[in-house]
Amino acid sequence: MELTTKSFSLSPEVHRYMVEHGDPLDDVQRRLIEETAALGRISMMQIAPEQGAFMQMLTRVSGARRAVEVGTFTGYSALCIARGLPADGRLLCLDTSEEWTAIARRYWREAGLDERIELRLGPAAETLRALPEEPLFELAFIDADKSGYPVYYEEILKRMDSGGLILCDNVLWFGSVADPGNQEQSTRDIRAFNDLVASDPRVERVMLAIGDGLTIARKR
Ligand SMILES: C[S@@+](CC[C@H](N)C(=O)[O-])C[C@H]1O[C@@H](n2cnc3c(N)ncnc32)[C@H](O)[C@@H]1O
Repeated sequence: MELTTKSFSLSPEVHRYMVEHGDPLDDVQRRLIEETAALGRISMMQIAPEQGAFMQMLTRVSGARRAVEVGTFTGYSALCIARGLPADGRLLCLDTSEEWTAIARRYWREAGLDERIELRLGPAAETLRALPEEPLFELAFIDADKSGYPVYYEEILKRMDSGGLILCDNVLWFGSVADPGNQEQSTRDIRAFNDLVASDPRVERVMLAIGDGLTIARKR
């Protein structure tokens, strides 16, 4: 079937326009974005503001109360997910970096969300495997090392009931997934993960061109 492309690559001007026509970023979000930007190139790891707003709204409309994030960095995505949870909701954040998550903790406290968020440091695969095998989560966000995605996905999916949502970031890898000439290991890892999700009968899924590509998989 011939497909018509209706999405387009965003210029900085269109991106700004788009962000300005959603809910305005608050002071905590602005300062967290600025402090992360000051870290240099690594700040690219932070999700885009409109993705954060989308994930906050998705968390809210899903009614999720218990969520998990794999890959927290300086805490922007966690801030958005936690804000989408009800007051008694809980977000478990997994990361290996004491340094980057120290920034996250400061902003979560400022936003009054530190009661809602638990951070566990260490390799996420080990932390997830050590959790009880029972329905623990209604929503998950996977955004850590790309080679680890299949394990994170499996360990989370088995800890969800029907209806659970898994959001997976960077699934377009700046378009390289569709470039057969790109055989870098990270690209191959993402492709293998995308193929796994695409053929998984346990979920229904959609891949969206938000940020660097976001897959939403819903457990049947
Ligand atoms: C892309 S960043 C996450 C960005 C974050 N979601 C945000 O919006 O700011 C990836 C994070 O995964 C963490 N990470 C990498 N390997 C990991 C592992 N094996 N277990 C847990 N976290 C890991 C890194 O320390 C880094 O903070």
